[in-house]
Parts: sequence; structure tokens; C-alpha cells
Amino acid sequence: MKIFAALLMTLPLISQQRLVLDTDCGFFGDDGATLAMLVHSGKFRLEAITTVSGNVSSQQAAQNVRDILRLLGVTSRRVFLGAELPLVHTAAMAEYAHQHWGPVAFRGAFAEHTRPASNKTVNRDGVQELIRIVERAPNQITIVALGPLTNLALALRLRPEIAPKIRELVFMGGQFHVPGNASPQAEFNFWFDPEAAQIVLRSTIPKKVMFGLDICNLAVLDRQRFEEIVKVKTPLTERFRQDYGQRYPGFYQNPAAKVSVWDMLVAAWMIEPAYFGKPETLYLDVDTRFAPGYGKVIELDRRLAPDATPVQMMNALDYPQVFALIRNCLQGGKPSRHR
Ligand code: RIB
Ligand code: CA
Repeated sequence: MKIFAALLMTLPLISQQRLVLDTDCGFFGDDGATLAMLVHSGKFRLEAITTVSGNVSSQQAAQNVRDILRLLGVTSRRVFLGAELPLVHTAAMAEYAHQHWGPVAFRGAFAEHTRPASNKTVNRDGVQELIRIVERAPNQITIVALGPLTNLALALRLRPEIAPKIRELVFMGGQFHVPGNASPQAEFNFWFDPEAAQIVLRSTIPKKVMFGLDICNLAVLDRQRFEEIVKVKTPLTERFRQDYGQRYPGFYQNPAAKVSVWDMLVAAWMIEPAYFGKPETLYLDVDTRFAPGYGKVIELDRRLAPDATPVQMMNALDYPQVFALIRNCLQGGKPSRHR
């Protein structure tokens, strides 16, 4: 009887999808909301959280992740620092682009003038940990990437043989049929580290599911939906309220503000894929010329990467259902059928 009970106890673990979450988590924002959704859904086993510079520095992101995990009642030592800088892009290059090619709407960590004091207790080898996890569990790990793809690109360069062993990559980044949001041509995560995005899109990872601006632009948070979320008061919705209400986009100062839910669509799809339409299958690349199109998603010339696997680019969803799922998860509810 005891064996049966033990099996029942471990069953959820066995049936949970195993994830590595790679994030440039700000104070809360879409990254923090996505982390909360994944945890509250109860459907996933977070093997590790690796942080990368993007919205904020990798160190700041690690601090934010730890603060949010505490609000979720999760005590995890599985937070690992990843890349502090993108592969090639620098703050000086971003300034040059801003001066010569038109305004850069958001520069993220490039605009940061201070770094949090380095926290000795934080694990530093995020890229190595990502490699270790995939090597120990081939074809079982889903990588969820919510920021610039620097860590994954470094892992693929250090250990190219892990690419086919990754079960799937699900990421927020890029655009294709629509303009950018960092520069007029490029989405922020890809703009911040175009070379990393190119390495990943040209890789042989078996399945790449892309949530770019094409679908993110259809999933907007406005003041009314913001109020619907924060009317249920919990420590988590309070942090969400502070961030979206007072910091970005600042609904209290700017009631007409609208902002995409961006990364949250990744978690919503992983929890309820039925709320999303059929993806477009495309072979994609990234423009890495240091010019106005730096970081823009383009079609891949397959002669340059004949083994590259295609990207499943999501571009349709039932947003009322997806928003109800996001709201319920953030308010702490299990994702039952959403109304
Ligand atoms: O362009 C949106 C992306 O940039 C999101 O991942 C957001 O968190 C920022 O990283
Ligand atoms: Ca992000």
C-alpha cells in the first residue's frame, strides 16, 4: 500500500512538464507575471531559473526573481546568474543608433547606471547549469526564454551537441509582419542581442515556438483590465499593481496607457494551447548588420544554415479567454476553464 501511496505522491512530478526559465525579470512586469502563472498553474516543474541582462541587468533580474518567488511561497536556490552583457551589442552602439537611425524607444539594461551589489549567495554559472540540466535529461527539458537569448546562444556555442537534446524552446521575441518596439524595425529582446537571436534561430533545436510582436500586439492590457486583476488583493497582485500602476506603463498617471502582456502569452499557451490559433511555420533569421535593421527578423537563406529547424510563429489567439486565464493565475487561482 505504501508503494502505491508513494507513487501517487510522485505522480504530479512525473506528469509535470520540466522547464528551465530564462528571464530578464524587472520589478514585476510581464516576466514576473509569467513566472507567477507557471508556478500557480501547478503544471510545471521548474528545474532552474537563469537570468540574463535585458530589461534590467542579470544581477537585478536575479534579485527580482528571488523577491517574486518569496511572494509565491517558493523557496528556491535554483536561481542562476547568466550573461551580464549581450554577445556584441553595447550601450555605445545603442547610443549611436539612437543618434543616427531614429529613436530607440527602450534601452533596458543599457540605460542602467548602477548595478545591485553583487550577491555572493547567488549561483553564477547559469549557462553551465542550463547545459547540465539538458545533458542530464535529454529530450525532456522545455526552455522558456523571456528575454534576450544570450544564455541559450552561449550554451549552444559551448556545447553544440545539446541543441537536438532540447525538447522544445518557447520564447517571446522578434516580430515579422509588424514593426519593432525597441527600434522601428526590431523587437526589444532581439534588438538587445541580435547575434544571440541569430544563433538560436539558425540552430537545430527540434521545436521553436515564437511569440513575437505579431501576436503580442493583439494582447493588450489597459486600465480596465489592470483594475480587474488588482481588485483581488494578494501580495502578488500588490506587486503587480505597484509595477503596472506606478512604474510602467503607469496606469495611475496615464489612465489611457496600453501595454502588451508580451511574455505572459508564453505561459498562457503552455497552460492552455487551445486558446491559440495555428502557427505559421517559417525559416527565420535575424539581421545582424549594424544598421537601422539591427535585430530585425528576416527570412532565412537556408544555404547559410541548411540544418536550421523552422520556427512555429504564433499569430492568433482568443484574447478574452487568454486574459481570463492570466487574471485567474495572477490572482492565485488554478487555471480551471476560464470565463
Ligand atoms: O519586447 C517585449 C520584451 O522585452 C518582453 O520580454 C519584455 O519583458 C522585454 O524583455
Ligand atoms: Ca522579458
